Amino acid sequence: MAKFPANDIITLLDRRVPHNLGESTSRDLTLGELIELPGGAELPPALAGLSLGYGTSRGDAALRAFLADEAGVAPDEVLITPGGAAGLFLTTFTLCDPGDEVVTTAPNFPPTLDVITAVGCKLRRHRLDFDHGYRIEPDALRASLSPATRLVVLVTPHNPSGVAIETERLRALANVILTRCPNAYLVIDETYREATYGDRPAPATAAALSPRVLVISSLSKAMGAPGLRIGWLVCRDRALMDELLRAKMNMVISCSVVDEALALEVLRRKQRILAERRAMLQEAVSRVARWVEARGARVEWVRPDGGALCCVRLRPSVYDQAAVARFHAALPEQGAMVGRGPWFDEDDRVFRLGFGYLPLAQLDGALDAVSRALALAAG
Ligand SMILES: Cc1ncc(COP(=O)(O)O)c(C=O)c1O
Repeated sequence: MAKFPANDIITLLDRRVPHNLGESTSRDLTLGELIELPGGAELPPALAGLSLGYGTSRGDAALRAFLADEAGVAPDEVLITPGGAAGLFLTTFTLCDPGDEVVTTAPNFPPTLDVITAVGCKLRRHRLDFDHGYRIEPDALRASLSPATRLVVLVTPHNPSGVAIETERLRALANVILTRCPNAYLVIDETYREATYGDRPAPATAAALSPRVLVISSLSKAMGAPGLRIGWLVCRDRALMDELLRAKMNMVISCSVVDEALALEVLRRKQRILAERRAMLQEAVSRVARWVEARGARVEWVRPDGGALCCVRLRPSVYDQAAVARFHAALPEQGAMVGRGPWFDEDDRVFRLGFGYLPLAQLDGALDAVSRALALAAG
């Protein structure tokens, strides 16, 4: 049997469409932009002198020191990984034996769900509901846990909805998990944490919540640099960190030194990069809000708290199952793409709309293309 199930989300990597509302990142940062940002003129000489040997097993020391300082942990508690996706794989693979029970939310980022079954664990889905605004309730989560639960994976803000778990609620959830399942670790995926809107500050990282909490993040979403394939994992349990390090070494030996060097340059210019993107996301989410409001007879949405993504639902009163299929058939004819619900283990009448990837000047045109598909499908 295949270790990983087929999932059409892979088309996001390979299909190029003019109205791409399927992506979850903010606009791609370019190398040229990085060089033009203050301090960027130092970049080419620094890179020209870069030795293309293997990196270190934990990841570049300056990069880890920067991230550790931000998270309020020690540099040895940070492991650089080839993207947050590798962090998810490494933690699940390292912490769990075949047959172990792992709980995570559904809908979710597909690899989060599929890695669990690929390593032979029992996946227990904790359902989050569109009608409940994809909020997670500590009491409801308790019912999905058992003393045999080995790992719980939560994501905030959530993919596909952009709904965040407030700090107090996260603390309550961690309490429920760590008392109900004394052998469990909690992994919190914070990949979208810093993708906030306008002046809203990012919530603090949960890295220091408990030694049994691990945090995963990356440069991909808020910073718009997924092509660098740099993420990180914060783990304050030293023995577990040693195991994660050995797993990483066996999997990739080290990360790319070029990616690590550029990642540090991105982080040094982070405040400027984030400020520009947050202003853009604020404007984009406002336009999507107006777009949904104007089409309220046809669609409804859950307003996101962060990230460049949200969930939109086709109203059942207008779209029966055949009309939902017509909508998805009409989208490519209009040059448009969205993230289909089933990619994330969600109903097909819900889709993920990524509003941060296209430049603002192209967003309205892309939303118009979706409107045309909605009209065609409604008949
Ligand atoms: C919730 C979540 N976690 C992790 C990732 C992995 O991203 P990356 O490997 O680029 O950091 C993604 C990417 O879509 C995601 O949505």
